[in-house]
Amino acid sequence: MSAGAGTPLILDGITQRYGSALAVDTVTLDIRGGELVALLGPSGCGKTTLLRAVAGFLKPTEGRVIIGGQAVDHLPPNRRTVGIVFQNYALFPHMSVADNVAYGLAARGVGRAEQKARVAEMLALVRLEHLAGRFPREMSGGQQQRVALARALAVRPSILLLDEPFAALDKNLRLDMQIEIKRIQRSAGTTTLIVTHDQEEALSMADRVAVLNAGRLEQFAPPTDVYDRPETLFVNTFVGTANVLHGRLATEPGGARVVALEAGGLLPAATTLPDGTRVAACLRPEHVAFAEDGPGAEGGTGGGLDGVVEIGLPLGATLVHEIRLDGGARLKTAEARAAGARPRPPGTRVRLRPTAPERVSVFPDPRH
Ligand SMILES: Nc1ncnc2c1ncn2[C@@H]1O[C@H](COP(=O)(O)OP(=O)(O)OP(=O)(O)O)[C@@H](O)[C@H]1O
Ligand SMILES: [Mg+2]
Repeated sequence: MSAGAGTPLILDGITQRYGSALAVDTVTLDIRGGELVALLGPSGCGKTTLLRAVAGFLKPTEGRVIIGGQAVDHLPPNRRTVGIVFQNYALFPHMSVADNVAYGLAARGVGRAEQKARVAEMLALVRLEHLAGRFPREMSGGQQQRVALARALAVRPSILLLDEPFAALDKNLRLDMQIEIKRIQRSAGTTTLIVTHDQEEALSMADRVAVLNAGRLEQFAPPTDVYDRPETLFVNTFVGTANVLHGRLATEPGGARVVALEAGGLLPAATTLPDGTRVAACLRPEHVAFAEDGPGAEGGTGGGLDGVVEIGLPLGATLVHEIRLDGGARLKTAEARAAGARPRPPGTRVRLRPTAPERVSVFPDPRH
């Protein structure tokens, strides 16, 4: 059904209300054919709702779903060329594993012999050939999850929707399945939308990540952009770790823009927001350097944050410190640990600075 370039998928201004509650708020996603997109966001932000709208199990309050250039809003699920793995597997309890996998094929009028061959192929893919005759209640959660995956893939969908598909799998099997999904997506050109809570999974598997918060799309970009150039305070703190320091924008006599922190000290600020604006400045732990480690500790771009080491942790390949700044705020640092390097002892006075001025992301402070 889908080959080569794959089938593009557009979510055009999808809004879903449940009574007066707004579960999804005008979300637009333009997904290229064959692309793998991860939906990332906290519990209740609307991820499953969006998948159900694409699959046709829910008619959104507003907006359109366009698959391969065709609006599909009037089509029932079985006519949308979509395969879905539900968050809770949703296997048919009264059917064997083999019959579960064959279900979509039968519904689409695929002949018996072909059904049998396809079921065998899919069960081999998820490594459950030996359990074809079992019933769902006789299987573990991870095994049921793989049956659900086999059922979704059996119909060779042009769009594959996966809602936390690996949640019940142990680490090794999870990695194998992630690679398998990537392989299928690449070789068959299957456009794939995967919901995950797991940032690493989203960042490692996806061509682009859509970050959702409270029903709204906060950023839709390649994983490295989401991590390196977060567009909102939410994205900066939800994806990866960030130190958040509050302060006010100012311009130094030399012309450099800075954040004058409530906790004391200055951070460089590359922003077009005006002086006086209250801001939240984000700095990832790996972008904090100890001033004695290199040049540029002080100077016009807003040099130092002074504080005391509270605790240092040698985490194998990384060295993590928690610093209490003189103004009271706490800040985490993370650096590559050289062979033999030990943490700085508690009580050590330190001066910190960002590894580069552009590593500081500045957003309007939501507290004001
Ligand atoms: N049938 C429904 N009736 C009323 N509210 C609903 C219904 N389904 C979902 N909601 C609400 O809509 C919001 C979004 O739900 P959704 O299931 O899409 O979240 P989610 O991002 O998938 O969360 P999770 O990560 O926990 O699975 C939630 O606040 C939820 O309570
Ligand atoms: Mg969900």
